[in-house]
Amino acid sequence: MIQLAPSILSADFSRLGEQVHLIEEAGAEVLHIDVMDGHFVPNLTFGPALVKALRPHSKMRFDVHLMVEEPERFISEFAAAGADHITFHLEASQHVHRVVQQIKELGLTAGIALNPATQLDGLKYILEDLDMVLLMTVNPGFGGQKFIPNVLPKIQVLHHHIEHKQSPCQIEVDGGINLETAAQVVLAGADILVAGSAVFDQADPKLAVERLRQAASLTRSE
Ligand code: DX5
Ligand code: ZN
Repeated sequence: MIQLAPSILSADFSRLGEQVHLIEEAGAEVLHIDVMDGHFVPNLTFGPALVKALRPHSKMRFDVHLMVEEPERFISEFAAAGADHITFHLEASQHVHRVVQQIKELGLTAGIALNPATQLDGLKYILEDLDMVLLMTVNPGFGGQKFIPNVLPKIQVLHHHIEHKQSPCQIEVDGGINLETAAQVVLAGADILVAGSAVFDQADPKLAVERLRQAASLTRSE
């Protein structure tokens, strides 16, 4: 089943608890939390304290997307704060295998993210160890950007590869997902859809989640 992962990057931070509650009520399975360090990406966002503050207020899976250099420095803090899953960027670590092990040893699921222009080749010797691959469909750093359609064939290739290997690894897509692109990525093989502005920049975020689910489920029947 397709899962929806609203990204709090576009939420109204002055009433974050309320907004998280709203999308959970709408049936979102995953809460996507974008962590940026001002180095790997030209923007700054949240740290483990935010994860810890939200944890008692939600049962959704907390999906932490680390857009930071040397992610190995922050894994244990995010795990202790209540993250369920951590994704880090292939481009941001010299020790990819070690970081994956570090995440899994703490009892979390692990994912690797690839920027739009990064090839799938770097996953070749690590895919079996992953619970998820995040394919960026915009350049990381900001919400509200336009979807990059060149990533669609990359989703297809990875989807076929995962199917061929009969691997349980899921494909998450992140950036520019809206009612139109949701259908395209699901058709290409995405399993988890991150959506920031398409949920929180809408007048009714709850309705926006429901409409995204409808758009996604009309496309692929499982
Ligand atoms: C971008 C972040 C995304 C962002 C997506 O670097 O990783 O999760 O919130 O925002 P939208 O859905 O507005 O493109
Ligand atoms: Zn993200």
